[in-house]
Amino acid sequence: MRPLRMPGASGLLTVVQANRPLALSATIAHEQLLPGRTTDLWAYRGSVEGHRVVNPLLRVSRGEMLDVTLVNRLGEDTTIHWHGMHVDERNDGSGMHPVGNGASQRYRFRIDNRAGLYWYHAHPHFRTGAQIHQGLAGLLLIEDEEDEQLRAQLDLRLGDNEIPLIIQDKLIDRHNNFKHSMGEEDWLGNFTLVNWTRQPFLEVTRRVYRLRMLNASNGRTYRLAFMRRDEAMPLQLIGNDGGLLERTQQITEAFLAPAQRLDVLLDLAHVPAGEHIMLRSLAYDPMENEPPGQELPAFHHELAVPMGAAADIMSLRVGESTPKPIPAPAALASMRRIAVADAPVRQFRLHTDGQRWYINGYNYHQDMQAIPVTVRRNQVEIWEIRNEMESMPHPMHLHGFQFQVLGRRDSPDQVRRLSRAANGTTPQDLGWSDTVLIWPGETVKIALDFSHDFKGDQTYMFHCHNLEHEDQGMMMSYRVVG
Ligand code: C2O
Ligand code: CU
Ligand code: CU
Repeated sequence: MRPLRMPGASGLLTVVQANRPLALSATIAHEQLLPGRTTDLWAYRGSVEGHRVVNPLLRVSRGEMLDVTLVNRLGEDTTIHWHGMHVDERNDGSGMHPVGNGASQRYRFRIDNRAGLYWYHAHPHFRTGAQIHQGLAGLLLIEDEEDEQLRAQLDLRLGDNEIPLIIQDKLIDRHNNFKHSMGEEDWLGNFTLVNWTRQPFLEVTRRVYRLRMLNASNGRTYRLAFMRRDEAMPLQLIGNDGGLLERTQQITEAFLAPAQRLDVLLDLAHVPAGEHIMLRSLAYDPMENEPPGQELPAFHHELAVPMGAAADIMSLRVGESTPKPIPAPAALASMRRIAVADAPVRQFRLHTDGQRWYINGYNYHQDMQAIPVTVRRNQVEIWEIRNEMESMPHPMHLHGFQFQVLGRRDSPDQVRRLSRAANGTTPQDLGWSDTVLIWPGETVKIALDFSHDFKGDQTYMFHCHNLEHEDQGMMMSYRVVG
């Protein structure tokens, strides 16, 4: 067990106030991540006020400009995609705008999103899975007044009792390197790292903690719970992908699919000193119900923890301290609901032919990157996305706009039992989302508002955030016109 890496002043997870220009080079270099040998880490590296920064945690307030120049020294194409950000196409950093080896690209845009935990990562066609697995990902923390209020109310400080957790499934070989090969069905690892720490523990005091989790894994979905002895502790869910919910929701567990975020309060005031709490992924049915008879390339799965298997992720050690009870606030933030009356409905179907994954029969690489969907600027739409039963869970992600989940139908039991609403939504569906997990057999309805002020038409992506599916073309572009 090792102490969890915390946001700090240099190296990985350096906190960088990102309201002024920043240069980051994508490079491959040794990094001391694990006990023993160094790891060849692909990362965004730079220097800020004399400190070496690696995949920094960029901190910026709503309304400020983000100005990052990427220099590519990887020896292959790359990009920085600003996951969850409402930006124009040029700043979106998708695979449609690759940055060649030796070239540079300046991303510069005003932050228009709600406060929340977002992230940035590489997004080149065919190589997103490989590059993220090798390390090219970091956090983007957006702040605003409502969020500051919550911090003040709960006496939260980033890096002390408010802690970002980058949860990442990695296949690590005996030389301490990350191993990835392309063309797999889904990439599963043998270890879950948190903040680039293997088997981490965290010393905590008897008070409320704000834990802001990102699943930055290639393909693994977690069913997260904080276990005290053998019972899941109550958690206050306060936010998801697109920032704070309107009201606190009490939960005991949640599925966290690749790219999704969860913002929770964990109250340890009543836990006696000396106790251990385990952040665990509980066992679940992975529902990999692909068509029978299909032979999937899966050699690495022999080394990996199977999808849906229980796994310990991080332990919390409660130390001697005076208990400090602070009630969780009921009301959190204001949230605009997308008005969907009269909105046109568009249908999507997620399916496979045993070779590739498709969205409505469309595969990005097979169909030569044609643009199958056009929407109008300022239009509200409903997208109804149905996943076939002979399929897998797909975390579907939209670039450019956050959306709202309107309902779930035909959900499997393990999802339905988390819902308290007639429309089948779960507590984590109650905020703004950019990634929604759709289980086999399930239909999920989302509301989208394509309002924007960018000049001209914008082309974005809609894809599965299982990175191997994405790289194999379970991805389409859509254009916002007018
Ligand atoms: Cu986080 Cu298109 O990706
Ligand atoms: Cu994205
Ligand atoms: Cu998928």
